Amino acid sequence: MDKSELEKRVSIIKRRKEEGITLCLEKPVQARKVTTLFEDVRLFNDALPEIDFDDIDISTKFLGHKFDAPVFIGAMTGGADMAKKVNKNLAEAAEELGIGMAVGSQRAGLLTKGLAETYSITRKVAPDIFIGSNIGGAQLAEGFSIEAAKKLVEMLDADALYVHLNPLQEAIQPEGEPRFGNVLKRIKELSAGLDKPVIAKEVGAGISDTTAKKLQSAGVAAIEIAGMGGTSWSGVESYRAKEANMGLKFKAGNILWDWGIPTAAALYGVRKAVKLPVVASGGIRNGLEMAKAIAMGADLCAMAWPLLRPATISGAKVKEYIDETIFALKTAMFITGSRNIAELKKARHVITGELKDWCEVYDRA
Ligand SMILES: Cc1cc2nc3c(=O)[nH]c(=O)nc-3n(C[C@H](O)[C@H](O)[C@H](O)COP(=O)(O)O)c2cc1C
Repeated sequence: MDKSELEKRVSIIKRRKEEGITLCLEKPVQARKVTTLFEDVRLFNDALPEIDFDDIDISTKFLGHKFDAPVFIGAMTGGADMAKKVNKNLAEAAEELGIGMAVGSQRAGLLTKGLAETYSITRKVAPDIFIGSNIGGAQLAEGFSIEAAKKLVEMLDADALYVHLNPLQEAIQPEGEPRFGNVLKRIKELSAGLDKPVIAKEVGAGISDTTAKKLQSAGVAAIEIAGMGGTSWSGVESYRAKEANMGLKFKAGNILWDWGIPTAAALYGVRKAVKLPVVASGGIRNGLEMAKAIAMGADLCAMAWPLLRPATISGAKVKEYIDETIFALKTAMFITGSRNIAELKKARHVITGELKDWCEVYDRA
């Protein structure tokens, strides 16, 4: 590629990455008529917890790494100046809190040093935490090599590589690559060839029990469910399709705005289907939802969109949001008599309403 072509590609990437952030900040991009279904999960109150609030231990382990709280900053960005600032602030908060984070899709980072720095800033400001690299399943399917994947991991000295599986987003995105022909085979090769764990994730439409089983046999080390009820990537891309005068994509993006497996339902199905560590995500917004997710078997809980606005301001603002989440989680642990995360995982709960319908389908499988 000659210099002017490279400059053109870099500027297109920067624009696209900035559009993703700006749309998420300025437009309604959350699920419209559907929810995560965590409202259908009820934990039992324990009026006799026999523990002191201050003795509650929320630390946990994930893929051999210690986390000071079962909280994760979901994959978001990189590849633009604004993204560099967001990543820096997210990483600052994650380092201070002793939790993990992932960066957004990193292919752009291979193009120039300047773009690479928008991702590697995370490791620079957060030397001690678990950081995840990120690549798309569509890119893997199209031949993104294991050597190139290793470079993404090296870029951040990452502890794992996330592969995002986003067929709906690719179908609606104006420049999407909705070609997933041999994606599972490529995930298998990647899991075998990379010396770091591979984690499969969705981006808000959820992983099902059957998909989870296929991913487990392909050798992934963990699954982030990224279910429905939070950010809609069909929605975000439909705004972009409208701008690009792509009527079919704009309309389909609206029709499928709320498409997906509600997060609590995806969690139930995946937890039942596989033995792997599971990260609950997609529309998780507070510590009570986190407590419910952990009681249903999640190992960590990730949030993305709620942390974006604070991350445009400062690391302290990101930390403030996560501190609130952690305090509510700890309170939920106190009133369920859960001394630590292992005990919270066993907290009794009731499943009601629509979620019960989903669970019945999984139970029959
Ligand atoms: C601004 C923004 C950018 C995102 N970019 C990526 C990405 O590059 N790669 C990825 O795997 N997920 C990406 N996601 C998806 C999130 O990791 C997450 O799965 C999804 O937004 C659902 O979680 P939420 O409801 O907490 O936002 C992005 C999310 C946001 C809000």
